[in-house]
Amino acid sequence: AVTPFKRPLTVLLAKPRGFCAGVVRAVEIVERAIAQTGAPVYVRHEIVHNTHVVDGLRAQGAVFVGEVDQIPAGATTIFSAHGVSRGVEAAAAARGLDVIDATCPLVQKVHNQGRRYAQLGYDVVLIGHEGHAEVEGTRGQIDGRLHVVATAAEVASLVVADPEKVAYISQTTLSVQDTREVIAALTARFPAIVGPDIRNICYATQNRQAAVQAMAPHCDLILVVGSRSSSNTTRLREVGEIAGVASHLIEGPDAIDPDWFDSVETVGFTAGASAPERLIQDAIDRLRGFRSVTVRELEGVDEEVVFRLPPRLVEAMAS
Ligand code: F3S
Repeated sequence: AVTPFKRPLTVLLAKPRGFCAGVVRAVEIVERAIAQTGAPVYVRHEIVHNTHVVDGLRAQGAVFVGEVDQIPAGATTIFSAHGVSRGVEAAAAARGLDVIDATCPLVQKVHNQGRRYAQLGYDVVLIGHEGHAEVEGTRGQIDGRLHVVATAAEVASLVVADPEKVAYISQTTLSVQDTREVIAALTARFPAIVGPDIRNICYATQNRQAAVQAMAPHCDLILVVGSRSSSNTTRLREVGEIAGVASHLIEGPDAIDPDWFDSVETVGFTAGASAPERLIQDAIDRLRGFRSVTVRELEGVDEEVVFRLPPRLVEAMAS
């Protein structure tokens, strides 16, 4: 058979990309809970923001619900990696649900920090995106005066009790660059403000953004694999665009449009913290259908972060 000539295409893989330690832990919690208690196990909210991960767990016996009042009293219930408000915790307790908390420890850390500031009498500014599950959860963990701002422009309209007593915290999956701008605007308006600088943005978010920045100068096109509902994934696409490279967010291989590749010699791939590696490999296979592909993984940070599972799930597997 004659192989038709295909134009060569270099695929660069950003490092690191894909699953973070919080997502690995959350998925494992659901799988182990099903193994321990049998299906169904109820999960409030998408365990992580990825359609493929959610569908895979649903097939194993997880039932995803929007609110705890949709869960039968007493049932095993998992809270998603994004965290929940105190109101949700109380509603679950009132229904006698057997809760296993898959909130990422790095989100919990932000809850604790926000609570401390509120207890000390600060107005707390939460830098984040209104409506995102993590922001709803964090807001609902903090008693006291809490304000959500997403952009530097919104800082001007903040009304606080005492400009000398303002603190800020942030969502874990923001753009480092945007967050610096918001912090600069906050500091200009409230010179006495206290906060963690950009340290609330988690290691996985920061590493993936830095990897896209490093990869961008070598690419004609960037493809970010992940779901649109995922905050960190959306930010990765923006980082590519800001670096001056056409960037598309794709949920999977089917979303690839061959027309994107007309004048492309090198395409860079990354994946959001909730996107399985398999989706990147499937996307590359799709490219092989119309180009002759060479794959190269770039140098980057080796992540060694691992989060402990809840003890009851560890003991269950050991016995
Ligand atoms: Fe946690 Fe960051 Fe992943 S907050 S769930 S490690 S994206």
